[in-house]
Parts: sequence; structure tokens; C-alpha cells
Amino acid sequence: MQTVLITGFSGMLGRELTAYFQTKGFNVLGISQQHSKLLPKEKQLNIDLSSEGFKDHISEHFNPDIVIHAAAFTNLKYCEEHPEETVRFHSDCTGILAQRFQNSKFIYISTDSVFDGQLGNYSELDKVNPLNLYASSKQQGEEQALNSGADAYVIRTNIIGYHEPLKTSLFEWVYKSLKEERQINGFSNVLFNPLFCGFYGELIENFILSKPQIGIYNFAASDEISKYEFLTRVAQEMKLNSSLISPLELINEPGGVIRPLNTTLNTQKAQMLGLKFPSMDENIKQLCYNFKSFIQKHGI
Ligand SMILES: NC(=O)c1ccc[n+]([C@@H]2O[C@H](COP(=O)([O-])OP(=O)(O)OC[C@H]3O[C@@H](n4cnc5c(N)ncnc54)[C@H](OP(=O)(O)O)[C@@H]3O)[C@@H](O)[C@H]2O)c1
Repeated sequence: MQTVLITGFSGMLGRELTAYFQTKGFNVLGISQQHSKLLPKEKQLNIDLSSEGFKDHISEHFNPDIVIHAAAFTNLKYCEEHPEETVRFHSDCTGILAQRFQNSKFIYISTDSVFDGQLGNYSELDKVNPLNLYASSKQQGEEQALNSGADAYVIRTNIIGYHEPLKTSLFEWVYKSLKEERQINGFSNVLFNPLFCGFYGELIENFILSKPQIGIYNFAASDEISKYEFLTRVAQEMKLNSSLISPLELINEPGGVIRPLNTTLNTQKAQMLGLKFPSMDENIKQLCYNFKSFIQKHGI
């Protein structure tokens, strides 16, 4: 039986990965700060990966075949306000983990926001230019992973999904806002091509089976969408009132977190390995379908 260690296993992406690899018969281990009921107590390690001495808490007997490093600070404002802690977590910790797990396949989940968003349709060879601390620290993490000497793979991506219990992702925000009949704005000039978190387990498994070379790979939907269109499509699919959503142009104000406008990713390199990426329509339909069962099950 193969063992997969998922850092951030209780997060939006980690939860879906945990469920997928468990269903496929892997021995799943997880790291998070807080205890989570998603894994039995003996299969999870609750440590702060942004702390200096976290490595001392990882047992010598922890020898996974695959590590998926998905833990991160995903609140951009928090990153901006805590630069040292953020760099220690996203950059230093990634390097330490990649070195610690030299005998494993080490998959680092990065972000499309390593680009400045001036062009879009970015390939793995395009020049990065992160605009905020979250993005620059994640990009430093990429370098740490790739320079560690491990079998390291960087997946640049953007994700859509929901947490258990619900939190504040883009999807959760539009769902809760429209349920409460609140007026909201969606950025019409911000373009992305994210994937539903529920698709990553199979994509990552197929990726590993394709025996890729060490390096960077883009994972993204086969077409793009604006944030405004995304919110509207979710409203339609969830049968909520889309007229509560108004288009608005994102203008980066001085003093705020600067966000890129068009971070769409080109997935040709990963497609050459045989990976198939769903369209935005397929992503939104599957996300909403799964979410409807989730809210029914939990009585939300
Ligand atoms: N969300 C997006 O829109 C987006 C877009 C592009 C790329 N990504 C990347 O995708 C990955 C997954 O993101 P996500 O949205 O699923 O994240 P998330 O929902 O915010 O979950 C973060 C996970 O990391 C853990 N974590 C946070 N701080 C930690 C610490 N100091 N020590 C140990 N564990 C810690 C959390 O556990 P606790 O709750 O116990 O702290 C949780 O399991 C990240 O690497 C992110 O950079 C995300």
C-alpha cells in the first residue's frame, strides 16, 4: 500500500485530496495545525509549519511515497501583515520538507498569482513577477522545492471549492451572500481558469503515473472566465438570484494588497503527459453538484 502525506489536509484542497486517496486505498497521513476529524488521530500530525522548530516534531518513521504540500496561509492580507512568518512558512518550510522527504515524490501546490497578470495564458517558461507577499513567498517556495535535490514537482494552479465547515472561499462567499439576498460585486476585469478541488486527486494520481520530469506544471481549466461571470454562473447553477451580482472593475488602490488581473494558465505541458483538464462549465457544474449533496447531508 502506498502512503501519501498531505500537508494542509483539512483545507479546501486538502480535504478533497484526503477523501480521494483514501477511496483509492492509499494510506493517507496529514499535517495541519488544528486537529481535524477527517483523519484518525494517529494518522495526523498537528504542528505549526510556520514555526522555526517544526521539523523536530516529524517522526523518523514518517516515510511517505508521495508528499503533497498544500498547507499555506491563503489570507493575502494576513501574509502582507506577517511577512517573516509567511516567508518562513511558504519558502523555508517548503525547502525543509522537500529535503526531509528526499525519498518521496514531493508535490508543491503553488499558485497562478506568481505572475503579474498583464498577459495571461502563462506557460511554465514565462517570467514570474509576483505582486504581493503571498505570491512572492509562494514563488520562493517553488525555488526551494526545485533546488532541494528531491523529486520535486511544482503545480501552479488556482482552485475553487468549499471547506468543511464552511469558510470564506469565493464560492462560499457568493453562495452565502446570495442566500442572504445581499447585493455583491464581481470583478469583470479579473480573469482566471481555476479547477474544482474535487478534480485534483485523479489529476495528481495520473500525473505521478505519467512519470513526469522534475519541474513546474500548470494545472488549470481548459478555458477562462472572469470573476464576475464565475459568480453569475454559480448563481444560475445553484438557482440563486444572479441579478444581485453587479460587474465591477478591479482597480488596485495604493496601500491595499495588489492583485494581478489575468493569471490564466496554459496547460499544454501537462496535457503532453496525457492529462485532460475540464472546461469552466464542467468545473462549475461538478462543484455545484457536489456542494448540493454536501449541504443536504449537513442540513445547511
Ligand atoms: N485558495 C485559493 O484560491 C488558491 C489559489 C491558488 C493556489 N492555492 C494554493 O492551494 C493550496 C491549498 O489552498 P487551500 O485554499 O485549500 O487552503 P486553506 O483552505 O486555507 O487550508 C490551508 C490548510 O493549511 C493548514 N495550515 C495553515 N497554516 C498552517 C500552519 N502554520 N501549520 C500547519 N498547517 C497549516 C490548514 O490547517 P489549520 O486550519 O489546522 O491551520 C489547512 O489544512 C495552498 O498551497 C494555496 O497556496 C490556493
